[in-house]
Amino acid sequence: MTDAAAPAPTAKPHLPDAARVTSVTHWTDRLFSFRVERPRSLRFRSGEFVMIGLLGDNGKPLLRAYSIASPAWDEELEFYSIKVPDGPLTSRLQHIKVGDEIILRPKPVGTLVHDALLPGKRLWFLATGTGLAPFASLMREPETYEKYDQVIMMHTCREVAELEYGRQLVESLKDDPLIGELVGDKLLYYPTTTREAFPRMGRVTDNLSSGKVFADLGLPPMNRDEDRAMVCGSLAFNIDVKKILEGFGLTEGANSDPQQFVVEKAFVGDGI
Ligand code: FAD
Ligand code: A2P
Repeated sequence: MTDAAAPAPTAKPHLPDAARVTSVTHWTDRLFSFRVERPRSLRFRSGEFVMIGLLGDNGKPLLRAYSIASPAWDEELEFYSIKVPDGPLTSRLQHIKVGDEIILRPKPVGTLVHDALLPGKRLWFLATGTGLAPFASLMREPETYEKYDQVIMMHTCREVAELEYGRQLVESLKDDPLIGELVGDKLLYYPTTTREAFPRMGRVTDNLSSGKVFADLGLPPMNRDEDRAMVCGSLAFNIDVKKILEGFGLTEGANSDPQQFVVEKAFVGDGI
């Protein structure tokens, strides 16, 4: 006798916490972004990260932390990813196609959230590489513009092509029917490269400590009363930026203790 409820023998087995891929864009040979269907029950705050992955060869989930690059109101979830050639997850994840399933553990967490900062006048997003991802979410979050007069997105990569995902995202905000009006001219975008010629160059750290970014954007130097910051890059970047922000008089905060800035690693480096 056949059990009518049993899956057909040819049906693909469903992954635990599966989310179906709806689009994939390759930006460079090291960077891609993709979108997945959002589980109905998934609630998160813009800027948070989740664990996502694929089934490993041993049949167990192979999971990594990923910032959700889409805002909390979006019907889908977007991710912006590195391709590490011999990386256990991304050597495979980079080959996903529309219709494939990934594993998405529905427990969002993270420190790059509005609740972790005290009110201020200007909000600085400071990122290198895929550290842009949480800010791709927060730049599309209405609360960002409701809470601050100005929002400054500083993003640094080695090469021009690595800025493209962020550039297109910022460009699209102007015409976004949901938040375009709210963004208005509040968002100041400050992309730089360090190893390829570009109109603006230099590390985030150098442009902050030399005062170049303040001069270029016509802003006063950062100060504890008015400025708030969120930082996301390599551990070395985070440590260096933290020192500079503390030099401006800002104090690091957390969900449980809101202050003037918050930091999150964009990835866990070798041996760290
Ligand atoms: P892994 O074994 O995890 O990493 C191998 C090596 O590759 C690392 O030691 C490191 O040197 C390098 N590496 C890993 N990730 C990156 C990266 N993003 N940029 C540059 N070098 C890297 N990655 C993303 O691509 N997008 C995200 O939004 C993202 N969000 C994260 C949020 C948090 C809180 C943390 C801790 C990590 C995040 N990562 C993100 C990194 C991610 O978890 C994985 O490390 C990455 O997907 C590579 O996985 P892997 O298994 O292929 O290689
Ligand atoms: P640089 O080219 O001067 O090293 P990576 O690809 O190594 O993750 O670096 C991404 C970007 O972050 C590069 O532009 C790099 O500049 C910059 N960067 C790397 N480490 C730091 C740091 N400690 N402080 C500031 N910027 C950094």
